Amino acid sequence: MAETRILSGNVVSDAVYTALESRIQFLKESSVVPGLAAVIVGENPASQVYVRNKTRKFSELQLHSETIKLPHETTQAVLLDRIVALNNDPLYHGILVQLPLPDHINRALIIDSIAVHKDVDGFHPENLGRLTAGRPRYVPCTPKGIMRILQHYDIDPSGKHAVVLGRSNIVGRPMSILLSQKQKFSNATTTICHSRTADLRALAKQADILIAALGVPEFVDQSFIKEGVTIIDVGINRVDDGSEKGYKLVGDVAFEAVQGIAGSITPVPGGVGPMTIAMLVENTVEAAENSLG
Ligand code: GUN
Repeated sequence: MAETRILSGNVVSDAVYTALESRIQFLKESSVVPGLAAVIVGENPASQVYVRNKTRKFSELQLHSETIKLPHETTQAVLLDRIVALNNDPLYHGILVQLPLPDHINRALIIDSIAVHKDVDGFHPENLGRLTAGRPRYVPCTPKGIMRILQHYDIDPSGKHAVVLGRSNIVGRPMSILLSQKQKFSNATTTICHSRTADLRALAKQADILIAALGVPEFVDQSFIKEGVTIIDVGINRVDDGSEKGYKLVGDVAFEAVQGIAGSITPVPGGVGPMTIAMLVENTVEAAENSLG
């Protein structure tokens, strides 16, 4: 059995940060420090970790970031006011509102309120529409980071069958668009599977590139894959393990079970996660550059 190659998001993200150094330097020489405002509503522990990891990277790179923590009870009107203030604050080139939001808040309304030129998550319908039209502004960070992993390891999707498990606006939907674009290092034939897909396993088995973004721990095992497939595992799931911390992180793929069958795979942690953060930094640097005119 051939060994399964590990696609390291840590390695690829380091290359991204190196490539950003001169751009950040140029901005600082122009008295612009790329700035991110991260808004988090409520106490979702996973969201808190994600936001902390994002802002920690901004600090490490000596970029500006601020986390705006709002209690679960925050009203939609108060949240909207905060976003409008951030839209008008020149210190912040990028704004992200961590998802999910509490149920009493209309997510679409909040996303629509983010200034399109500060929407570094790429979730605003204008930015998703631009991506769909082949004229992207900000590309959602996780799918953008996945394309960079494929590029780095020279896994060209052209002519391949890419199967995306999950149809969220954050990952699955934009992922399928990026993979099927008519341009270099894209041109895949793309299938999106979701909770209502009939015989998801049979479709997944056809994949040359399998993107698992369902949020179900270790859902994809050896029975879902064909030999040599490239697997991108987007899942970051907490499962109880009786350890001191109380849980461990696992992906949507049963990592051990696919070893020796898959051609390559992104690990969890250390795969897609670091790339999401790197693309957020890159999008924020781009937003800061755009602010220079
Ligand atoms: N929730 C899960 N992933 C993301 C992300 O990339 N950005 C935001 N804002 N929320 C998320």
